[in-house]
Amino acid sequence: MDNLDILKSELMNAVNSATDLATLEQTRVTALGKKGKITAMMKGLGGMDPDARRTAGQALNIFKDEISTALDARKVSMEDDALNAQLTEQRVDISLPVRPEEEGRIHPISQTIDEMVAILGEMGMTVAEGPNIEDDWHNFTALNIPLDHPARQEHDTFYLPGDVENRKVLRTHTSPVQIRTMMNNKPPFRIIVPGRTYRCDYDATHSPMFHQVEGLWIDEKTHMGHLKGCIIEFCRALFGVEDLPVRFRPSYFPFTEPSAEVDIGCIRENGQIRIGRGDDWMEVLGCGMVNPNVLENCGIDSTKYQGFAFGMGVERMAMLKYGIPDLRTFYESDLRWLRHYGFSVLDVPSMVGGLNR
Ligand code: PHE
Repeated sequence: MDNLDILKSELMNAVNSATDLATLEQTRVTALGKKGKITAMMKGLGGMDPDARRTAGQALNIFKDEISTALDARKVSMEDDALNAQLTEQRVDISLPVRPEEEGRIHPISQTIDEMVAILGEMGMTVAEGPNIEDDWHNFTALNIPLDHPARQEHDTFYLPGDVENRKVLRTHTSPVQIRTMMNNKPPFRIIVPGRTYRCDYDATHSPMFHQVEGLWIDEKTHMGHLKGCIIEFCRALFGVEDLPVRFRPSYFPFTEPSAEVDIGCIRENGQIRIGRGDDWMEVLGCGMVNPNVLENCGIDSTKYQGFAFGMGVERMAMLKYGIPDLRTFYESDLRWLRHYGFSVLDVPSMVGGLNR
């Protein structure tokens, strides 16, 4: 007990001069551990007489508390120092400007589909979709194209393996979604169908995979005047030409009667085509009044319901609108091409914002 003051200053020195947690822990064990110095002194109290033991016990307890407190305080201050060092070292300079990032572009096909959906959506049509792998019935038969019909050969169909009766096809147009919609829902119908289509064809204006947008509008009183109004409005809005000439030329599709092909006015100048007033015409889509046979094939009463349908190629429209000369470039994933013909991510097509660049 005589050496208490010396031990105290020794231990306090050790605590205050410790610079890492391991050394500090070592000091704690030396003082307060099972075999520590203070613990040994506590044990020694047992051999003293009662008065001396009380005085020494009090002094020892105070000493023990002081050392504990000093150890805890030193530990907290070490942890603070470590945290501060880390904060200084890993400081983030939030005043630095952000690193410039490559801005992505919207592909002209996506942009054109969005524009078409915006225009036709404004007229009250909603988007419908169907599978790319179709069966013969949805792609042909239900659309009034029987097995022996020459239109089957004209479509250059990709067939999946299987016997002739049951083999699946890659849909040659988006028209099978007309059938799926009418089979699974109740009239009236006002749908647009953007999607991929497939035909075995490849040159500057054809690709084995391409996109179409289909329209179907059926209710009790829809007539050819509505078809013409819808198509004329659509073409003028899409090309952003208010007085764009639009011509309906009699044609034939098995699934519409009467049928028409639609031409828009254009000028051809040294190999370039400009859409608008001019002395030339450009074919852009097919349409007609839905053939009653098609309605009946879908279980719709053709004496009560009637309407129109149309279908167009998205690539063709995009090429005409944005002056893209070769269809194959759409799928080459050439970044320079995409930077030139692509659209800003923030350039969302809407009727309000205007659809033209
Ligand atoms: N499905 C036709 C085609 O791919 C286009 C079309 C759709 C024509 C709807 C009339 C009505 O050529």
